[in-house]
Amino acid sequence: MALVALASAKGSPGVTTAGLVLGALWPRPVLLAECDPAGSDVAIRMTAPGGQPLNSDRGLVSLAAAGRKGLGDDVIMAHSQQLDGGLDAMIGVRSPEQIGGMGGLWAPLGITFNQMHNTDVLADCGRIGPASPQLPVVQAARLVVLVCTATGSSVAHLRERLSSLVHHVDARLGVIVVADPKRRDGVKQVWSVLDAMSVQVQHRWHLAYDPAGAAFFDGRGHGRLDRTALIRTATEIAAEMAASVAMPSQYEYDMAQAAFPGGEVRPGPDLEARR
Ligand SMILES: Nc1ncnc2c1ncn2[C@@H]1O[C@H](COP(=O)(O)OP(=O)(O)OP(=O)(O)O)[C@@H](O)[C@H]1O
Ligand SMILES: [Mg+2]
Repeated sequence: MALVALASAKGSPGVTTAGLVLGALWPRPVLLAECDPAGSDVAIRMTAPGGQPLNSDRGLVSLAAAGRKGLGDDVIMAHSQQLDGGLDAMIGVRSPEQIGGMGGLWAPLGITFNQMHNTDVLADCGRIGPASPQLPVVQAARLVVLVCTATGSSVAHLRERLSSLVHHVDARLGVIVVADPKRRDGVKQVWSVLDAMSVQVQHRWHLAYDPAGAAFFDGRGHGRLDRTALIRTATEIAAEMAASVAMPSQYEYDMAQAAFPGGEVRPGPDLEARR
């Protein structure tokens, strides 16, 4: 299926939160893979089903040891675990020091993520630059989505990162702006900045800045999550994003829509000759 890489240029615009919420709403099976070298937030913020702590020994680090013999769907899933709510996740490194243990595994990992048979992968790649160790995962993705806010500095860093990224990735590009749902003017300004660039950003989404909704993905939620602006906006984004990376064969073909010609089927010249 497909790998979608989520990343940021600078700051903490909400990549991890977007990964968790989009993963929770993804219309197909999906694995959230934490590939942020700065260290896992999922292991700290989220729990296993029933509120149990997640197993921090099972994730990218245990995969790095096992994956030297070869990577495949079964190996990836063996080092993943379920979060409360049912989302499958591969927990990232505990600290940047553990990144050394990954060796040359980032490139095969990215390729494997993009080719898994039964699941899409949403990779939280954290902040990326040309020297980022996780860049091969970004390069293997079918879609690379940068997350930013609608502030001047966030957009300036987004611009700079996009200009550099096009030299490193062939994938289609998308941008998620995390902004107050009422601040559509600010979001429009981000789109006009993108329009003025030579870089093609094919997908543009506005995810609600919504502290009450985001709190659920920070271990602090109260009340009804499904009524939040975060979920309303993310539902649409997850559907569009998943559709944009779906392979044609993943659609159920409806035979009633087939462009078959009407009328009787006449034998062709081959059949005619055999008579
Ligand atoms: N859509 C949102 N609305 C409101 N608050 C948000 C939203 N997304 C993230 N936040 C809050 O902003 C803070 C940073 O979010 P998050 O960890 O998702 O960002 P990040 O880009 O992954 O950061 P880092 O680069 O440090 O990993 C968290 O406290 C989170 O709850
Ligand atoms: Mg993060």
